[in-house]
Amino acid sequence: MLVRADLNVPMQDGRVSDVTRLERLVPTIKALTGRRARVVLLSHFGRPKGQVVPALSLQPVAAALADCLDGLPVAFAEDCVGPRAEAAVGALADGEVLVLENLRFHAGEEQNDGDFAAALAALGDLYVNDAFSAAHRAHASTEKLARLLPAAAGRLMEEELAALAAALGNPKRPLAAIVGGAKISSKLDLLGNLVAQVDVLVIGGAMANTFLNALGHDVGRSLCEHEMAATAREIAERAKAVGCRLVLPLDVVVAPALEAGVATQVSDIGAVPADQMILDVGPASVKDILDRLESCQTLVWNGPLGAFEVVPFDEGTNAVARQVAAWSRAGQLMSVAGGGDTVAALRRAGVVDDLSYVSSAGGAFLEWLEGKSLPGVAALIRSS
Ligand code: 3PG
Repeated sequence: MLVRADLNVPMQDGRVSDVTRLERLVPTIKALTGRRARVVLLSHFGRPKGQVVPALSLQPVAAALADCLDGLPVAFAEDCVGPRAEAAVGALADGEVLVLENLRFHAGEEQNDGDFAAALAALGDLYVNDAFSAAHRAHASTEKLARLLPAAAGRLMEEELAALAAALGNPKRPLAAIVGGAKISSKLDLLGNLVAQVDVLVIGGAMANTFLNALGHDVGRSLCEHEMAATAREIAERAKAVGCRLVLPLDVVVAPALEAGVATQVSDIGAVPADQMILDVGPASVKDILDRLESCQTLVWNGPLGAFEVVPFDEGTNAVARQVAAWSRAGQLMSVAGGGDTVAALRRAGVVDDLSYVSSAGGAFLEWLEGKSLPGVAALIRSS
């Protein structure tokens, strides 16, 4: 049984520093080993670009995965195709688990190469894709392989697709989205898609500065894409035309620099001092955002509201996150969040387990929010 997993986990000093992605694979792996399947895990790790890069070996990740599987032995093969992979697969007994070396050590993976996919397919007789977070990549292990073997979605893939469908497919309304992050230029498709679908669109992070500037406010020394002013105005006009309520900050927290311990002040958006930077939303903005969200039944969240990595610029994000978590726990709001920074911010606020669903995906979550078809999902649907 070939299982495409996403073992692309953060590492520090040669050790896995966050096992969330590994833990989320456990239900699929246990469901399969419990039925005596021989589980062969395929994954990429980092971006070695078709070269063998020892620092990007999956061996330490295989060891960390064994810990998540309560010590169930996890074997490792030093290649993902060819004699070493074949020997390791041949040595597997029923109910055992094997991790193959980084798929991206072979150029054929990212090229979605047919021969490379066929070499992978030769190692098993069924294919399960449990790597939603890699489903935006049309690579051999996520796309072509799904067409070479009988294919199915794993538990995590299934869970991600169900949560995302509940949030944007056929959501309970009113539907809100919070979009933050540094640049609107990197989230244009996402904003365009969301404006057409959501009832309330909260804009935060440095991206809000671009909107404020476009709407005539001086943003001082803040991070701001001045050249995107016309685009921001267009998005604001489109929102108005389709009845999507755009929520921008009313007040902001400013400081001379993005540094811990720096002097801060709260400023109305009409009065940002020329020598200061906007680094978070202010208390009136938090109240306004929560007032708008209170009547919503569904929320999609991608991107923090401020520079949350540096205290105290995490306060706006924390306050909104805690209230969203409380509504979600009370069953009054279906909340779905995704993206690396967003999950880090929710973890910091202490509420990562309290939202209705937190996606394991970064780029794939974004592309899904953009309304794009994900090749790894499309291939599963085609092959079913
Ligand atoms: C991720 O971490 O978002 C996925 O594993 C995809 O990785 P990639 O951006 O290197 O394709």
